[in-house]
Amino acid sequence: MEIRGTLAVLITIFPYFLLLGSTKAQLSVDYYSKTCPNVEEIVRKEMIQIIKVAPSLAAPFLRMHFHDCFVRGCDGSVLLNSTKTNVAERDAIPNLSLRGFGAIERVKAKLEAACPNTISCADVLALMARDSVWLSKGPTWPVWLGRRDGRISIANETHQLPPPQANITELIQMFSVKGLDLKDLVVLSGAHTIGTAKCATISDRLYNFTGLDNLNDVDPFMDKNYIDKLRSKCSPTDNTTLIEMDPGSYKTFDTSYYNYVVKRRSAFHSDWALLTDSFTRAYVLKHANGFESEFFQDFADSMIKMGNIDVLTGNQGEIRKKCYIVN
Ligand code: HEM
Repeated sequence: MEIRGTLAVLITIFPYFLLLGSTKAQLSVDYYSKTCPNVEEIVRKEMIQIIKVAPSLAAPFLRMHFHDCFVRGCDGSVLLNSTKTNVAERDAIPNLSLRGFGAIERVKAKLEAACPNTISCADVLALMARDSVWLSKGPTWPVWLGRRDGRISIANETHQLPPPQANITELIQMFSVKGLDLKDLVVLSGAHTIGTAKCATISDRLYNFTGLDNLNDVDPFMDKNYIDKLRSKCSPTDNTTLIEMDPGSYKTFDTSYYNYVVKRRSAFHSDWALLTDSFTRAYVLKHANGFESEFFQDFADSMIKMGNIDVLTGNQGEIRKKCYIVN
């Protein structure tokens, strides 16, 4: 009887052992501890230099990691160049304003010199995104490593990136197919505490919200005074000027983004949309009043989750030598 009981227990827990075995091939925080123990120091040293010279690059690295993870998983596909026969993700409209590709190649080259054929471009980007936040006075977190690089990058697949016009239903849907929930949505949107947007990205809210294309055709959910302020910076056809997404502290990672959302002074309709669901609204209202350490912890947790989306591991993909081209 006792043997049968033990057998039953073993049969019940066996699948979990299998699962444990398979998760070994997944990401881990000490993935390079034997093959490249200094990887994090090398990235951080380079990042300190890069951000010292060009502080405005912190935001694009963070955004790039998000755009990488939402299209084919965090596999470095956003970094690949187009070829004669293929238009790659980075040449698709949502990615045209990404910057910092050269700096990523520079960090990757340092890592190739120290540990050849070892560190994936997808991991380099995840580490650079983490250090970007930390160097902007935000939180830090352990980056799970061991991603492999994909060999495919297709411009049309960027339709999986949420557009700035998205409403809350669309945002929830686009995050949930990536395994991210309502909390991740409202927390990760807080990334808009750093960085800039092109006037062209917001001009519909200022001049042509419903296609009527006249001075009254504005986003009714944007503060009227703020519309005037933005119009003084952005003409209807301006495609070059940048506006600060979190005016006054767009280089500092803090909770002031949520304050702008409450005041209906956020850059995108999608930011405002966070006020239209009871859960995300409550989070925005609470953090508009501070609670920075809670936001920092939440952001770290959600970034780890996002960095895990559809990763390639084990023998999948490759370790690219250069991030812009497959081996
Ligand atoms: C929730 C849905 C989101 C939408 C609709 C959205 C949309 C956008 C758009 C349209 C821009 C400006 C593009 C331009 O004009 O240059 C932008 C900038 C930015 N986004 Fe998002 N985003 C979202 C979520 C995220 C997430 C999850 C992250 C990171 C975790 C992120 C990080 C950033 C950063 C840091 C910038 C500033 C980039 C720079 O300064 O160049 N965004 N976003």
